[in-house]
Amino acid sequence: MMTQLPAFAASPIVLDHPLIQHKLTHLRKAETSTAGFRRLVRELSLLMCYEATRDLPLEKVEITTPLEPTTGMQLAGPDVCFISILRAGNGLLDGMLDLVPFAPVGHIGLYRDPNTLEAVEYYLKLPTQIASRRCVVVDPMLATGHSAAAALTRLKQEGAKRLLFVCLLSTPQGIACLKEQHPDVPVITCAIDPTLDEHGYIRPGLGDAGDRLFSTK
Ligand code: URA
Repeated sequence: MMTQLPAFAASPIVLDHPLIQHKLTHLRKAETSTAGFRRLVRELSLLMCYEATRDLPLEKVEITTPLEPTTGMQLAGPDVCFISILRAGNGLLDGMLDLVPFAPVGHIGLYRDPNTLEAVEYYLKLPTQIASRRCVVVDPMLATGHSAAAALTRLKQEGAKRLLFVCLLSTPQGIACLKEQHPDVPVITCAIDPTLDEHGYIRPGLGDAGDRLFSTK
């Protein structure tokens, strides 16, 4: 596993840990149940969160163990927050909050106008102090990259400076899109799949992440 986040999305961090790859394979299977899918996404997002928070700043703190005083390290806050790109991004929140239960959570909702093809915002609610926080932006699928890029642009307009994008699956097109529009934003992903089909699905992929998470169609 990597030790330091690169400063640009040109080199996405692909989490090739055996447990991640094992869980991802089960997640991809068409026969995985809704409950199983949710459990796997929770576990995978916890593991991705571990990497996404690797470089959070620490500060010294004096504590007393049952035996003696000592110096420990704690997160220097306020720091990390999670921002979910609706709706599938919400599926990644449980695992992240298992690991960082005190983190504030923001949501951004965008849809693509079928005529202009522009991203239109329909919801935005963000934590306080966004400019000084590490903002971990989550969406399970980085397909074309258009909505992720639009969300990152909007968050920068709101003052976010330390952004990181985390997804389960990505494509070369999605990564290239973020590299072009947001070269300052590192990307963490579990795999880069080879193909984006004409319907916008990642292949081999895992299907529609939102539908599988929420059991809709
Ligand atoms: N969104 C999904 O949920 N699945 C894909 O394959 C692409 C985008």
